[in-house]
Amino acid sequence: MKADVLLGLQWGDEGKGKIVDVLTPNYDIIARFQGGPNAGHTIEFDNKKFVLHTIPSGIFNKNSLNIIGNGVIIDPFIINKEIENLVNNNIEVGDNLLVSKKAHLILPTHRLLDAAYESAKGKDKIGSTLKGIGPTYTDKTARNGIRIGNIQRPDFLNKFRELKEKHLQIIKSFGFDYENLKLDGLGLKHYEEKWFDAIEKISTLTAIDSEYFINQSLNSNKTMLAEGAQGTMLDIDFGTYPFVTSSNTVTAGVCTGLGISPHRIGEVFGIFKAYCTRVGSGPFPTEDESGDGKKLRIDGNEFGSTTGRPRRCGWLDLAALKYSIMLNGVTGLFMMKADVLNDFEAIKVGIKYDFNGELIDYIPFEASYENLNPVYIEKPGWKTNINSITDKTIMPTELAEYVKFIENEVNVPVKMVSVGPDRSETIEM
Ligand code: GDP
Ligand code: IMO
Ligand code: MG
Repeated sequence: MKADVLLGLQWGDEGKGKIVDVLTPNYDIIARFQGGPNAGHTIEFDNKKFVLHTIPSGIFNKNSLNIIGNGVIIDPFIINKEIENLVNNNIEVGDNLLVSKKAHLILPTHRLLDAAYESAKGKDKIGSTLKGIGPTYTDKTARNGIRIGNIQRPDFLNKFRELKEKHLQIIKSFGFDYENLKLDGLGLKHYEEKWFDAIEKISTLTAIDSEYFINQSLNSNKTMLAEGAQGTMLDIDFGTYPFVTSSNTVTAGVCTGLGISPHRIGEVFGIFKAYCTRVGSGPFPTEDESGDGKKLRIDGNEFGSTTGRPRRCGWLDLAALKYSIMLNGVTGLFMMKADVLNDFEAIKVGIKYDFNGELIDYIPFEASYENLNPVYIEKPGWKTNINSITDKTIMPTELAEYVKFIENEVNVPVKMVSVGPDRSETIEM
């Protein structure tokens, strides 16, 4: 079998968690391939709400196997809290969760480094989630990292101490006051104790050579969905650099993050909001800082799932969407949060950019994104509550036309329209 992929086409938080959960019954395996606990994937059903950071969103389906791939970075403290919360809510976590031995560990001092770097950047800060993502991937590429498979080895503690010392030296050289910084409410010493308790607990998870396991599973006709984190516009190579995350969030990341060849990629599902949001700093051409942007934030409850920060809101950006579709080879689209537009008379869509007087629909390197002035058209709103609609034949015509318009512009079919956070609130197209 081939592996299907679901990933975000904007700046993250498109609703990946919800859709992975909806699609899970169609797959034997759900696998995360990149990112770490900077992700916050929300799943709602039966009046319950869960936010996952590291664990794949297939965990709620009793029949699915969930794999955390080699490309993911893991904070033992955070994943342990996730597991405890699931177990307390009677969601089974045991043999249904496998972890790659090659996945790298986020150390407590990676989080301190993240804070030190951000503070040193001052007004140019990235707006990181401060989960230690950048510093952990930096150690991975600099060949200093510590991996899940190292935990059981005799030199684990030595490696930990050496790396921690290196980190503290850097932090001190910044003159950063790390001794007063709290990690999840705890000082470094205390947090480190909890981190080691968590290491003990996660040692009971099954660690595997995931690249062999995954390829053998596909060989024996098992179906797999790879679950992206963040979004294409946050990709380390193709996003709005340097205001990006530190991993490849695009389809190519599935190959390196799970160890499968490009020939084994099947469908690529791209997910986007019917409008657009971004959390953290960096360019966002179609951002709306007027009342409409505020209304999108309130109606869409646009506050970060990981950090609680208000998300910046604006309009669909078709040039950026086309770019993401091209980079990922998207074969089907999921349009999310259509219901958030229920109460808009007119819906703006960015169709092109005015770049120094020229109209373009691509994103040239030379354009600092601030120079890209979006050109909008307006589509009529549907001005009605669509939350309970699950049948496309009774969709308001304005919504059907909005979907058709996007499909025609980007040349990829929309497979599903999401009209609410609950698992059941979807319209199959
Ligand atoms: P992810 O990171 O891509 O999984 O997305 P997040 O969970 O961070 O953010 C998406 C938010 O929108 C969550 O609070 C979801 O519960 C919610 N959500 C998902 N789909 C819909 C939808 O169609 N309508 C509404 N109103 N909310 C949605
Ligand atoms: P999910 O998977 C939205 C953003 C941060 C910051 C930048 C770098 O829930 O869609 P990092 O912590 O990676 O160093 O932050 O990327 N960011 C996200 N924004 N959703 C996410 O994940 C994000 N993960 C990171 O806000 O601007
Ligand atoms: Mg999120």
